[in-house]
Amino acid sequence: MKPWGGRFQKDTEKIVEDFTASIFFDCRLAEEDITGSIAHCRMLAKTGILNPGESEEIIKGLEEIRKELQQGSLEFKAELEDIHMHIEKRLIEKIGPLGGKLHTARSRNDQVALDMHLYLKKKIINTVRLISHLQKSLIELAENNLEVIMPGYTHLQRAQPVLFSHHLMAYFSMLSRDACRFKDSYKRADIMPLGAGALAGTSFPIDREYTTELLGFGDIYENSMDAVSDRDFVLEYLSNSAVLMMHLSRLCEDLILWSSSEFNFIEMDDSFCTGSSIMPQKKNPDVAELVRGKTGRVYGNLISLLTMMKSLPLTYNKDMQEDKEGLFDTVDTVENCLQVLAPLVKTIKVRGSNMGKAVSEDFSTATDLADYLVKKGIPFRDSHRVIGELVAYCLDKGKLLSSLTLEELHYFSPLFDKEALTCLDPYQVVGSRNIRGGTSPRQVKKYLEKARKIQKQNEEYLS
Ligand code: ARG
Repeated sequence: MKPWGGRFQKDTEKIVEDFTASIFFDCRLAEEDITGSIAHCRMLAKTGILNPGESEEIIKGLEEIRKELQQGSLEFKAELEDIHMHIEKRLIEKIGPLGGKLHTARSRNDQVALDMHLYLKKKIINTVRLISHLQKSLIELAENNLEVIMPGYTHLQRAQPVLFSHHLMAYFSMLSRDACRFKDSYKRADIMPLGAGALAGTSFPIDREYTTELLGFGDIYENSMDAVSDRDFVLEYLSNSAVLMMHLSRLCEDLILWSSSEFNFIEMDDSFCTGSSIMPQKKNPDVAELVRGKTGRVYGNLISLLTMMKSLPLTYNKDMQEDKEGLFDTVDTVENCLQVLAPLVKTIKVRGSNMGKAVSEDFSTATDLADYLVKKGIPFRDSHRVIGELVAYCLDKGKLLSSLTLEELHYFSPLFDKEALTCLDPYQVVGSRNIRGGTSPRQVKKYLEKARKIQKQNEEYLS
């Protein structure tokens, strides 16, 4: 008979058992379920709801079940619905009717909320750590190529020269904010729901503060209906993951472009690429493409949960069982993507001379020539037009700005002198962006020092 079978006169249809069961995915909460039950049991003993002997026996049974679950020896069946009922049933099998006392002053509604909070607290810490590993790879690649110059792009058109290290560190910054968002969301995962019961609390004299302390939570849900109704802490993980994946996807897109023959700026290591079954010459950036592709499912999981939750009346509804697969899928996807990208980025070979060549063959120093005239006293709007005409002239004559003579420059403005040509040197141009946040080697070096500290903090987060 089912644990809730008392009021039923008929057995559940097999198809209904299969349809309503969550055990085949919520078995991932086994560890948290045992931990939560042990704390609950200790609290029941402390408050005299169970006697000490009873609680010892229940805890011993739960520890044995923990081992069985770790070894995979506990068989999962749809008829037992979910992980909570599997563990309870096994406990009763092991220690007899006493096992049935564990569920005193508790419902599966606050129990599942507790498990999800415990699970996410662990996963948030792990996600921040994995972000820090990718940050470390970015720092190393930037440090090893600190002064390599490349074209910076807007509209994917060459815009102004930048340091390759500066470009990489832009991703470092994005990841730093991602880590901050995950760390901030920890506060909402760190609230203890147990004691809410099914929805209204319990008439037993439980000690919620004690359970909170035993489980290491920072706060307690103050409203029992809220505690079993909301999944906002799950949504935060999903939405932070969506933003993180958007960043990873853009990084990957840059890597894919840069490793194409058209750019030829970098080469990803053979061990992180794959080949073609028909074209012998191919080396494909599959890993980066897959990270870009997997971003879609992470967005999807966020939208699924938002949509599932949006019109639910308070409090618990079975719909909410649907919160799990999307979360687990997102956790796996985010962890896998971060894990594979950290070594991929670390082993990138940089073709600095190709990047340098690209800068010297374009007009990306035009802004600096315009700034040069401004420094001679003419308004920026006017100098913008003058340099625009100069570029049009070059395009017509098949020339570059750097190959113009002083005489040619004078057709366009008498203010040009010999020095004008030095401001066309990309190194000079990059070096002159010497303000906080700019691309000069001095500024990038400074940021790298700061970045090392941020990366370390993320690596050591809550350890
Ligand atoms: N398997 C359920 C879930 O994941 C556990 C809570 C069930 N509670 C209930 N009253 N049916 O949401």
